[in-house]
Amino acid sequence: MAADALSPNERFLLDFHRSHPGATSEFFGPARTPEGGDSYDRLAALVPEGDDAVVLDLACGDGYLLERIGQRRGSRVRRIGLDLSADELAAAARRLGPDVLLLNERAQAISLPPASVDVVVSHMALMLMDDPATVIAGIHRVLRPGGVFSAIVDGGSAPSGGLACFVASMGRTLRTADRAFLSLNHPIVMSREGLLAHLGEAAGFSEARVEELVVSRREPPARLWELMCLTYDVVQLSPAEVESTRRDFLDAVEALRDAEGLVGCSVGLRQFTARKQA
Ligand SMILES: C[S@@+](CC[C@H](N)C(=O)[O-])C[C@H]1O[C@@H](n2cnc3c(N)ncnc32)[C@H](O)[C@@H]1O
Repeated sequence: MAADALSPNERFLLDFHRSHPGATSEFFGPARTPEGGDSYDRLAALVPEGDDAVVLDLACGDGYLLERIGQRRGSRVRRIGLDLSADELAAAARRLGPDVLLLNERAQAISLPPASVDVVVSHMALMLMDDPATVIAGIHRVLRPGGVFSAIVDGGSAPSGGLACFVASMGRTLRTADRAFLSLNHPIVMSREGLLAHLGEAAGFSEARVEELVVSRREPPARLWELMCLTYDVVQLSPAEVESTRRDFLDAVEALRDAEGLVGCSVGLRQFTARKQA
């Protein structure tokens, strides 16, 4: 993919995922909802069982969700992954083997034929994409009539526990840093009403709904800091800023240790689901 055809956010994402492939599944894979599942399961559960469905994972990263879908539904489901990052796709190819079609392209220009996919899923990626209206129009184009689109995105309830400490520590660092940082989350996708408006009847969808969920995990403070270093925020800091944020964060989470010395953290997410009109 030609780097000069990409936006500054896309170039940042390419660089980040080159050095941190699999960062998202490393954090969200072990994070649990109160019912005991995880956020990937919620999307995998939408793929019809026991038929020849075609599923597209839009911005599939290292293929964690596609692997989960293959495990749940067996080999009859045809799986396709698409991602901007060739490095994430290389990790996906290692994880998934030759049976999964992997497309190195932008979600704004999906090359699949019209009406060729039964289910489009996307985990923690839609809010990062430029021009969500174009992405959603492309999803509508590739879905078969009656097909389902579901995306889990950042949003919903505020982070708590160790993650709230991280947000506060980052806030202190950013206030003292005298420069602009990239803002990656698109306002349309971060707004409940904003995204629902793009999944309405006028856009050719029906039954649009949004559900809020929370996923949590508990870790020793040092491991939690390692995980925070896999966020898009920390890589924008200078080494000195990373070090002061790390010290500030580790001081703050000390008070949150439980009896086993672990610190819990929770993140709020939203799942948007809609059906292409038949
Ligand atoms: C936070 S990661 C999520 C990866 C994976 N879905 C997961 O949850 O494990 C975001 C992914 O979106 C991809 N991405 C961001 N913008 C994209 C775009 N416009 N088109 C295709 N992929 C994109 C990135 O390359 C990255 O792999």
